Amino acid sequence: MTPRELLRAAERARRASYAPYSRFAVGAALLSSSGRVYLGCNVENASFGLSICAERSAIFQAISAGEREFTAIAVTAGTGQGAPPCGACRQVLAEFGLDLWVHYRDMRGRLVRRRLRALLADAFHLKPPGGRR
Ligand code: THU
Repeated sequence: MTPRELLRAAERARRASYAPYSRFAVGAALLSSSGRVYLGCNVENASFGLSICAERSAIFQAISAGEREFTAIAVTAGTGQGAPPCGACRQVLAEFGLDLWVHYRDMRGRLVRRRLRALLADAFHLKPPGGRR
């Protein structure tokens, strides 16, 4: 699957966005190592702080389906808007590997392709007692 195809999937996911407060609709598509694509959109709440970003919606969806390894994520906020993942989402994605490719557009609409490692320097990790499952 190419970055452009993954971005197209993110655009599809964006259509489901629930963002009545910010009116800023975001879509994400996460590609697992098994080749499946998991979609996510932002879901806002009247209690603003409870809103969730598209990237975290996508990864929680994937983890809930039993996935643990990912190769790429594409994020889109629509034309004319950049969509670099926020810091909270970078940290959540980092839990499952810093080699992840992250695709998004910058404010000028140019495609950006970065490893999560480059987007989140010095990521926080905790060694789980007894190993990860
Ligand atoms: N948002 C995302 O979905 N992903 C990001 O990386 C940044 C922000 C959402 C959260 C909120 O619903 C809206 O965009 C405005 O911040």
